[in-house]
Amino acid sequence: MINKKMASELNTQLNKEFYSSYLYLGMSTWCANTGYNGSASWFMLQHEEERMHAFKIYNYMLNQGAKIELLTIEQPDINYTSLLECFKDSLKHEQMMTHSFNELCDLAIKQKDHASYGYLQWFVQEQIEEEASVGEIISKLKLVGDGNGIFMIDSQLSQRKPDTQVGA
Ligand code: FEO
Repeated sequence: MINKKMASELNTQLNKEFYSSYLYLGMSTWCANTGYNGSASWFMLQHEEERMHAFKIYNYMLNQGAKIELLTIEQPDINYTSLLECFKDSLKHEQMMTHSFNELCDLAIKQKDHASYGYLQWFVQEQIEEEASVGEIISKLKLVGDGNGIFMIDSQLSQRKPDTQVGA
């Protein structure tokens, strides 16, 4: 059993993961509507991955007897003017999520909650990967500028495979 403060913060994080999933669904929609079908597919997989992250936290909370409240999921703003802007927004979001997990780890240390600290480490590692993969795409998009190279990158993004390592 974890204490109330940690349960409440994890519940907030649960909502952030569901928001992430919703945000990526929005990005996928924007890409599909704009003709970037490879990126739409990439973001759709990201949408599914974020839902799995949410359920990973949900299952941990259930196992720890923490109170789960399903909070309102905010409407994402998906009015992008370019694919680069869309991926930049994704990176900004992931940096915010990394900060959020770091704060949860700080809380776990403060409370000597070793179980939560250990559990959160999976997310800390995952955030490194998420920021790196989006950062790499942004670098490529910056390199090609507004040229036809965007469509090559978009086509490459359609090759992304589902992540089978998330687990419960
Ligand atoms: Fe689950 Fe991309 O943060």
